[in-house]
Amino acid sequence: MLNSISVDRDFARDFIERHLDKRQVNKIQHAFPSPRFWSETGVPVDDILEDRRELHAMGRGAPVNLYMGVPYCIQTNPGKCGYCLFPVEAFTGNVDLEVYFDYLKRETAMYKESLQGIPLGAVFFGGGTSNLYREDKYFQLMDLVRDLFPDIPAYVDITLEGIPQLFTREKIKAIKEAGMNRISMGVQQVNETLNSLSGRKQKTQHVIQTIEWAHEFGLPANIDLIFGWPQQTVATMVKDLETAISWGVYDITHYELNVGGPTDFALNRYHELPSTLSNLEMYRASRDLLKSHGYEQITAYNWRKPGDPNSRPYEEGVTHRVDTMDTLGLGYAAITFFYDTALAEGRSWSFINSRNLNEYKAKIDAGKFPAERGFRHAREDFMISLIWRNLFGLELDRPQFQQAFDVDVLDLFEGVWKALEEYGFVEITPDKIKLVGDGPFYTPLIQALLAEKRYNQLRERMVAEVQGMEF
Ligand SMILES: C[S@@+](CC[C@H](N)C(=O)[O-])C[C@H]1O[C@@H](n2cnc3c(N)ncnc32)[C@H](O)[C@@H]1O
Ligand code: SF4
Repeated sequence: MLNSISVDRDFARDFIERHLDKRQVNKIQHAFPSPRFWSETGVPVDDILEDRRELHAMGRGAPVNLYMGVPYCIQTNPGKCGYCLFPVEAFTGNVDLEVYFDYLKRETAMYKESLQGIPLGAVFFGGGTSNLYREDKYFQLMDLVRDLFPDIPAYVDITLEGIPQLFTREKIKAIKEAGMNRISMGVQQVNETLNSLSGRKQKTQHVIQTIEWAHEFGLPANIDLIFGWPQQTVATMVKDLETAISWGVYDITHYELNVGGPTDFALNRYHELPSTLSNLEMYRASRDLLKSHGYEQITAYNWRKPGDPNSRPYEEGVTHRVDTMDTLGLGYAAITFFYDTALAEGRSWSFINSRNLNEYKAKIDAGKFPAERGFRHAREDFMISLIWRNLFGLELDRPQFQQAFDVDVLDLFEGVWKALEEYGFVEITPDKIKLVGDGPFYTPLIQALLAEKRYNQLRERMVAEVQGMEF
């Protein structure tokens, strides 16, 4: 089995050489394989839930990380902020949210019985745009969480994500009083000229004001910034980061722009995008700047400055566990991952809820789980997924991997690690494989290399399925 998913050092070196200056189609991914391969339509959610209950009854299993999505976003010109690849629906008014919330509540109720007694890891209200909700809804959203998990320990991170221009003082107060303990704001660009390319009606003042309210109510606030944006230079990026640092922001998520799909940036601004090597320069400059201001790198794109008086002990769901992963996604287009080495082969799953809002609602009206499509993991898929996830958190624990899978991850992908070490992207010690140097920037390349062979196998399987052949 080892040989079937690994590649040798020469192949790995050649792959790296060919991709160093190429734009990766997919940026950092949290689980293997990409949803393009999730082709099973009859996802057995009841069996998946039974497995989870059994694992916990055995005294095993991870706390559940809960994700709750909302489909809606304010319409922009160009559409979808010019770059966004997430499924979203155009917001037409508060009634959309009232109706949707009712469906979310009914979906949540479907999970109640099977989650009894299972601990909660973290909660994320994302989307879409979760701060479109009016003040009264934050408490109701938290009631949904409390209904599933009556005892929420103080260490559980409960984050609500939104856009700067939709936060108000009343909403921040309501978010805090509801029991949420962190906000995350999609800023993308501080520079108003560059930001206007996205059609978002966001002004710098909205960001500053929200950070002040968050400080007033004792809520830690993360901001998302994107580098590799059309017309962006190292100098404009550095200026944005310096401004964000001057506002006293302790948590910065610094994504590289993912370009694709029928977005305005991919179709009409491709020629204005910095090259991959310019993005690498931006990554290096941002890393050096953030480090010089005392920020620590938590993941390939999360940076944190210690000392936030409101800081949270739990870290973005990066638990560095190698044997298990349990995320429950509720709502339109939400994703669920459920893997554990203690499960029998073929019982680990990823699945996505309907990305068509009418279908999502119709399934709930019919009393069914709104799962759309899923992927059943073989052991090697599960391994790659956990290697990816841990590398995103910058390091892989070799003894833990050995214990979980009975194989040294160094042997499993020896050719890949050795080639990456020669490029200065990883450091190998008896206990760890760590991303170093430009390694975090090249995480998408490294993920693609680790998955190259398995992806070929999955592609062949899909072709065979389409052709109706037996496997
Ligand atoms: C899915 S959005 C939802 C949050 C909110 N609606 C917003 O726009 O701020 C979450 C974050 O993903 C990031 N994001 C979305 N599309 C991206 C892309 N094509 N490339 C890189 N980051 C992206 C943005 O930084 C955004 O803040
Ligand atoms: S970037 Fe945010 S606001 Fe814009 S379309 Fe995507 S999810 Fe909606």
